[in-house]
Amino acid sequence: MKIFSGSSNKPLAEKIANKLNLELSPVEIHVFPDGERRVKLNDEVVDEDTVVVQSTATPVDQNYMELFFIVDALKRSGARSITAVIPYLGYQRQDHVFREGESVSLQVMIKILESLRVNKVTVLDLHSIKIPEFFHIPLGHLSALPLFAEEVKNSGWGKTDSVLVSPDLGGLRRINKMSELLEIPWVATVKDRQLDTGNIEISSIEGERKDIKKRAIMIDDMISSGRTIVKSAELLQKNGVSEFNVFVTHPIFSQDASEFLQNSIITKIYVTDSVYVPEEKRFPKLKILSVAHLIAENLKA
Ligand code: R5P
Repeated sequence: MKIFSGSSNKPLAEKIANKLNLELSPVEIHVFPDGERRVKLNDEVVDEDTVVVQSTATPVDQNYMELFFIVDALKRSGARSITAVIPYLGYQRQDHVFREGESVSLQVMIKILESLRVNKVTVLDLHSIKIPEFFHIPLGHLSALPLFAEEVKNSGWGKTDSVLVSPDLGGLRRINKMSELLEIPWVATVKDRQLDTGNIEISSIEGERKDIKKRAIMIDDMISSGRTIVKSAELLQKNGVSEFNVFVTHPIFSQDASEFLQNSIITKIYVTDSVYVPEEKRFPKLKILSVAHLIAENLKA
């Protein structure tokens, strides 16, 4: 097996390679003055099973294009098989038509990958349960929830002092799964998003009031602006919660998110390395857990 990386998350790709006792195969990525990219593989791949690791978070389109070019180069160079490891699958929130006249952007990306003849895609914690149905090739869908559950158990938090919280009703599948793993009851806050502006309101709490405890263990698939999680925590605070530990798989951290989260009422934020967080976006409340071993195990299998 040979493993290549795009430029979006090389540290994760290196860790995965390391767990597989491999070195990353070199790729040259040249950026022309007008922003176009040229990709060149500097390793032999004839009849090899190959893997390319590329997260498609910000800059989303650029990262996707780079992935497409690496896949194309692998195919043209005679690779026997190509597995695209896309720990964060960009455009996954655009998985259906919300308003008449919209495209289903995620489906477009998947169609391109399939037309380039990728053999398998491996992803982590997808936004919705319908996304796997878009794929006509094998999909490895991994989850960071067991990793988060371990962290909760190691912290000694349990049902007498903690409640699991989904910041919106779209996260009920995730929160049910965590509740099964931890035997801690859950509540959900109700989020309304204005589709044209993207502004959100957190209006109420669904679930048993008696289950609300002093510590919230909040679970979500991604943080972008940080507004969902903080507004949800603020409503919980009004209902007696005083500690807010957040577990989120994908740290997108758009615009001022890092500063906003650090200065918020959130106590601690656990994320994974599905998306690379540069030094300047890291903050004291943040803890990054690696998913390299999960991906490496999946690739071995
Ligand atoms: C949306 O349904 C997702 O699960 C996240 O809750 C959302 O994308 C977080 O976005 P933000 O951090 O910008 O509020």
